[in-house]
Amino acid sequence: MTAIQSNAAKSRSVTHAIEVHRLSAAVGAEIRGVDLARIDEAQFAAVESAWISHSALLFRGQHLDHDALLAFSRRFGELDPPPVNENGKKFVEGYPEIYVVSNVIGADGTPIGSLGAGEAVWHTDMSYLPEPPDASLLYAVEIPPAGGDTWLCGMIAACASLPPALLAAVAGRSIKHDGTYNSGGYLRAGLADSDDPVHSVGTPHPIICIHPPSGKHTLYLGRRRNAYIAGLRRDESEALLDELWAHAARPEHAFAHRWRVGDVLMWDNRTTLHRRDPFDATARRLMYRTQIKGKTKPQRAL
Ligand code: SIN
Repeated sequence: MTAIQSNAAKSRSVTHAIEVHRLSAAVGAEIRGVDLARIDEAQFAAVESAWISHSALLFRGQHLDHDALLAFSRRFGELDPPPVNENGKKFVEGYPEIYVVSNVIGADGTPIGSLGAGEAVWHTDMSYLPEPPDASLLYAVEIPPAGGDTWLCGMIAACASLPPALLAAVAGRSIKHDGTYNSGGYLRAGLADSDDPVHSVGTPHPIICIHPPSGKHTLYLGRRRNAYIAGLRRDESEALLDELWAHAARPEHAFAHRWRVGDVLMWDNRTTLHRRDPFDATARRLMYRTQIKGKTKPQRAL
């Protein structure tokens, strides 16, 4: 745990201390002592430093309206529009940068958001784009009594622990990140079903990238479904991807976040994967998500 306190706080009898508590050995930290609707410069500097070190941050007990969620998100940079989802309804009316993740059924009889109540498999957000978002923030408004945990997996740790033969096999190579399906397995609106990883819609990115703020090397895997390692035969690509994913998603690289209403969880898409447990489809889960635009394309390290 580290604590950071501004000098100004002493004279105003207001504490600006924040506490940083690691959530797992590989990735993530909980930040305590900050109200994201009122965060000041000194607190934000401390949050940003923790962000660069830990790749994922959790803030509990927040009360954010849409404007406050956008204002905090914008502290990290320009925002990206949300992904195209399965039902064509992408965002909160009047707030085109806020993506709704929800199984709640709206007045028209269809879900008000994306991803339903099933499992969302390991992925990094929107990596099928040529310039994917650097980060995503997820704010919990309604949560089910059980299930729906969000897991994070640290790709800097996974990269550092690659066995030498696997490192040699993937160095210099790129993966095509498929854009046909989202992590809930839903076909994106406007696309045709495809299980052909060589020809499906997507973008190739280097497998081992640099994390620009820290200079560390990180694995950049996207999604397993319809992934393809450019230049290999399809069977060779499948075998190498299976080996890579089995290593990356090892339990020591990951942790599960059990949500409470008012949690904000943000993750660096360049250095983490995330997945979601399924939950009872009759329960309600409502989350609002923002995406921080990528400042660079994924940059090859090796
Ligand atoms: C997401 O993949 O962005 C959503 C994860 C979740 O619903 O917990």
